[in-house]
Amino acid sequence: MKEKTSFRIEDFDIKLETEYVGRNFLYIDSVDSTNKFLMSSKEDFPNGTVLLAEEQTNGRGRKQRNWFSLPELALTFSILIKESISIENLNLLSLASAAVVSQAIENLYQLKVNLKWPNDVLVNGKKVAGILLESTIRGSNLDKVVVGIGINVNQPFFKGSFNLTPTSIRLEFGKEAIREKLLSELLNIFEETLDDVQANKNKILNYWREKCRFIGEKITVTDENFEKFGVFEDIDEDGSMLLRTQNGIEKITFGDIN
Ligand code: BTN
Repeated sequence: MKEKTSFRIEDFDIKLETEYVGRNFLYIDSVDSTNKFLMSSKEDFPNGTVLLAEEQTNGRGRKQRNWFSLPELALTFSILIKESISIENLNLLSLASAAVVSQAIENLYQLKVNLKWPNDVLVNGKKVAGILLESTIRGSNLDKVVVGIGINVNQPFFKGSFNLTPTSIRLEFGKEAIREKLLSELLNIFEETLDDVQANKNKILNYWREKCRFIGEKITVTDENFEKFGVFEDIDEDGSMLLRTQNGIEKITFGDIN
């Protein structure tokens, strides 16, 4: 059983190779939601600010779901982006963030990671991480984007019922994972990937095509207002799903694959 340990900022910082992502690093014991904090704060935090919380009392998931994780065993953090992303690239940024989490996990642990559209990160078919992107718009431009990432790192078990069975890196890898190392690796890749979102979309799309579960398969996509059946053909360059239905190719920008 893992001894719980607080996040050691020095161990994280020494491995951080970024220019701006994570250079302003805020670490707090408890907050309702790291996303909510950065979205609602009036403080002018610099571009690339990262807020990591040991505990979220009201962690947000996609579709008004909750994100629950035990203190000191997970990584729950948000990254503030204030520059260099345009509105039309928001969905792609969300996909890119899942790809970044996947790469960091694959680089550090000998695990094969898959992605589930739009932004679930899976190991052995179980969910190891999720992403929630929130943004505000001023006029016709993005004011800020908050990329919230929750990673199940060292949880020894999960209680409750879930849409998608959860797992942790430790459960799949068989050994404790060092959160400081994982976060620095992830932020190093994240900064590089931000450039790709604007200027090298194909790199992100090709990574997704390689890792994405269900591409080429018959699927059902649901949302509150629709249920669609078809073959998951491809991912469009804006991050949408291209679904081949009876009516031809349909572009789906949100929904869940069941
Ligand atoms: C999902 O899979 O539904 C997305 C989960 C996103 C959870 C993270 S944890 C850090 C950040 N703060 C939040 O309140 N949510 C995101």
